[in-house]
Amino acid sequence: MTAAAVVGGRAAVVCAVGAALPPYIVSNADLTARLDTTDEWIRSRTGISQRHVAGAALSTTDLAVRAGAQALADGEPVSVEALVVATTTPDRCCPATAPAVATRLGLNGIPAYDLAAGCTGFLYALATAAGLIVSGTVRTVLAIGADRLAALPDPEDRRTVPLFGDGAGAVLLRRGSEDETGALGPVVLGSDGTGADLIRASRFGALHMDGSEVFRHAVDRMTTASCQATAAAGWELGDIDRLVPHQANSRITAFVARRLGVPDDRRLSDIAETGNTGAASIPLLLARSAADGRLKPGHRTLLTAFGAGLTWGATTFTWPGLSAAATPPKEAGHDW
Ligand code: UT7
Repeated sequence: MTAAAVVGGRAAVVCAVGAALPPYIVSNADLTARLDTTDEWIRSRTGISQRHVAGAALSTTDLAVRAGAQALADGEPVSVEALVVATTTPDRCCPATAPAVATRLGLNGIPAYDLAAGCTGFLYALATAAGLIVSGTVRTVLAIGADRLAALPDPEDRRTVPLFGDGAGAVLLRRGSEDETGALGPVVLGSDGTGADLIRASRFGALHMDGSEVFRHAVDRMTTASCQATAAAGWELGDIDRLVPHQANSRITAFVARRLGVPDDRRLSDIAETGNTGAASIPLLLARSAADGRLKPGHRTLLTAFGAGLTWGATTFTWPGLSAAATPPKEAGHDW
């Protein structure tokens, strides 16, 4: 499915970004001390050197609030009219994460809801945010991806523990016009429930993943979705200045770039420092790349993701020239 992101010339325009990573870092050396694995295996098979882990110190809500606060501090002051949190690891089954996040950001009263689409969650959040904006329902939406995936695997499982980290990222969207820099292009989304068992968890500590099967699907789906989103935007694959893929595994994202014909120096990656942070990975990578100059104003940017469900998605926009520091300011009144 391709969700139109422009209605009557109205578009959702990216106007601020934010990121949050918990301060506690687990290195590959920390893992080799307690699991039957090696730094060499983890780095060569995944590209991961370390991951940030929230542990008991920070909840998914805390991470989402930090990323959201940074996005709100980053851009021009705007009044946020809706908030969506993409997460597979909410703090509680009920209620959703987003209302508490809205309240802690000083946005009490606005519509606020969660959505779950695995590691593709942030692209689903962008699509629903854009829909709210272009339909004329609201003028601004804060879209947050937040996950604590490090808590999902069985701590003894060497096949899954090294892969995951915790974090959150946020993008503020406002109503604008389709010819503006930062206007979101059509969003391609898809799902395939026949693959539901390939990545599954009934509770924290019970993650199951069929790694090699997921690997194959991830490459195929992200490549196809990327081609569709690029074509729907009226771009050629050769137009892409920056590929921002979900950080599942650097070998997966390298395969996707190669299949798309995107040179490797245009493929952004953070996985060495963050691991796979689920729905957070794309907005985290956007915010961190904007802060350190890997993303520059005018870069034609392609986002693509794949995750549990199975789910996948892709979209495009031109980077509008924002910045965000990877270390967000402390939330007032919170002792982190
Ligand atoms: O975000 C979306 C969801 N997740 C993903 O997209 C992840 C997709 N999958 C992957 O990234 C990769 O499949 C993995 C990183 C999970 C695994 O890499 P692989 O190259 O597909 O390895 P494998 O599962 O085929 O395992 C190869 C070997 C096995 O040993 P045997 O059976 O060949 O003797 C594993 O037991 O590597 C072994 N192995 C390890 N060895 C050392 C698995 N994990 C480890 C480990 N350290 N941590």
